Amino acid sequence: MKLGVCYYPEHWPEQNWADDARRMKALGIEVVRIAEFAWSRLEPARGEFHFDWLHRAIDTLHAEGLELVLGTPTATPPKWLIDQHPSILAVDENGQTRGFGSRRHYCFSSTLYRQECARIVEAVAREFGQHPGISTWQTDNEYGCHSTIVSYSQDALQAFRLWCQQRYDTIDNLNRAWGNVFWSMEYTGFDQIPLPCGAVTELNPAHRLAFWRFSSDQVASFNRLQVDLLRRLSPGRDILHNYMGNFTEFDHTTTAADLDIATWDNYPLGFLDRDSADLDDQQKWFRTGHPDSSAFHHDLYRSLGRGRWWVIEQQPGPVNWAPHNPSPLDGMVRLWAWEAFAHGAEVMSWFRWRQAPFAQEQMHTGLLLPDGSEDSACDEIRQLTSELATVEHSNVEPAPVALIFDYAADQMLRIQPQGQNYGPLEWVLQQYTAIRRSGVNVDILFPHQINDATLQPYQLVLLANSMAVPDSLVTHLQHFDGHLVIGPRCGSKTDEYQIPPDLPPGALQKLIPLRVTRVESLPDFANLQSDDGFCAIRWREKVSTDLLPVGKFTDDWGFYYRSGDCHYLNCCLDTDSLQRFFRERLQDAGIETTACSTGLRIRQRGSLYFAFNYGPEVAHLDSGNRYLVGNCVLHPAEVAVWQHQAD
Ligand code: GAL
Repeated sequence: MKLGVCYYPEHWPEQNWADDARRMKALGIEVVRIAEFAWSRLEPARGEFHFDWLHRAIDTLHAEGLELVLGTPTATPPKWLIDQHPSILAVDENGQTRGFGSRRHYCFSSTLYRQECARIVEAVAREFGQHPGISTWQTDNEYGCHSTIVSYSQDALQAFRLWCQQRYDTIDNLNRAWGNVFWSMEYTGFDQIPLPCGAVTELNPAHRLAFWRFSSDQVASFNRLQVDLLRRLSPGRDILHNYMGNFTEFDHTTTAADLDIATWDNYPLGFLDRDSADLDDQQKWFRTGHPDSSAFHHDLYRSLGRGRWWVIEQQPGPVNWAPHNPSPLDGMVRLWAWEAFAHGAEVMSWFRWRQAPFAQEQMHTGLLLPDGSEDSACDEIRQLTSELATVEHSNVEPAPVALIFDYAADQMLRIQPQGQNYGPLEWVLQQYTAIRRSGVNVDILFPHQINDATLQPYQLVLLANSMAVPDSLVTHLQHFDGHLVIGPRCGSKTDEYQIPPDLPPGALQKLIPLRVTRVESLPDFANLQSDDGFCAIRWREKVSTDLLPVGKFTDDWGFYYRSGDCHYLNCCLDTDSLQRFFRERLQDAGIETTACSTGLRIRQRGSLYFAFNYGPEVAHLDSGNRYLVGNCVLHPAEVAVWQHQAD
């Protein structure tokens, strides 16, 4: 695993560049990402290109032996361009234009903006595409950050109508698919279809789902435009994009299919404070981040990158954008990096080299303070660099468990949650955590990419959120001969957001003979116990079947059904129950488990084992292990690495 950093030469006097490069190298940095927001410096006025400074910056960094990732600057269209073509700006759902003054102020559907992107990407790629220092390109920056996937502009409206025509062919098909007879929502032509916003009350869920699919497709084609140019003008370089954490506003599988590497931006403390609804979690993991958040995303992006993935931005200290911005516990910068290594990252890169003393992110730490002196992350990186040199890089083998994650389903569950406390991604993470608490590695798979061979390595497969299940997946699951857990709400809708004709779980009934005849969502004060001590929360399903439930709730609704190796979990469970449920399923599937305390996590990579202590207590490991890093007494924020010993 190489170490990297994000660097903005345009923010600093040129006389500092050589010293920065030398200090990066001395710290163990090998990869540097640059220029992803530099459009106003590359082209201060239309057609007036200033590439000289970037040439000198690239040459300086390359002369130190640093490898460069060059970003296309399309996340920040400059003021002159917006003034010439204000229609580039995105429009929010209230019809308000999203103005200039920060970043990501463009609409993915603007054909004019696509032409401008092609122009700048072509110019930059022609200029730098053959430079020996450039190994990799990054397209744009964080598609969707600051809620920028959707736009309700005139361009988006026209493009959406066209998309609908292509998908449904006739307006009758669309009306039928969306159920528009309901509330007299029928259209007589594609030119009548509005964007889903501004209605009096809830919009048709099928309309919203179509718009989400359309918006996802817009991101994919926007990205492809850049990828095609870069492949042609800078052959032999890898192309990546930096995705985000806890983010499902577009289907990442389609953009990822066009890229060589999936990378993501990991801010564990920021995510916890911004995204977690659970106060207890927020308190417990305040300075470490949630113990499964980084791991889950590492597994997700490893799968999206078909094995090739990086952390391209990693939190080095407090950030500036969460509701509160605490300092990580000493040791966490090193621990987070080791966690990335344990999951097989090719590159682990921090955001950013030096803290900016100006503008929006002046309160965001870097590896250096604004005056150039070292911030505390540097010592941890030095320790990491010397430790990394002592372990070998083995392949990441398939895990025993595969979790099937569906981006569209996540969106479907958000469109009609049917219960205020139902957090779709949170529920997926809770299932992931429950498995990981048994010390077991998990791989993540995407429904449309699965075939018989994909499932073959696994002993246990979990359908974690597949609200609509493609027929092909059902067929492959029928051929799968390990254990299958189907979670609640899977198969409960068709692809067009209707209840399946044979009732939920739809085509999954081929795998287990039961029908869901009643569902209820539960407020947080109404948890329910089953007779065998499992505690249902948030969501429960009543099932009609000849199978006997494994347990029962006091009101006689059954709890959990099993037919051979196929298991149907018909409710959400609280943390302890979910762990117990999965521990039993892992045992059914013959998978070896190691119970991990709340803050301890264990992972295997090839012949290496890793232990991470995210918790406040000291954890004790086996003193007989042959430790390469750390030892059997694991203090908070500590890491241990040991070599598997053949019996
Ligand atoms: C990311 C973004 C970076 C920077 C960083 C701050 O979302 O890609 O440009 O803003 O956050 O944490």
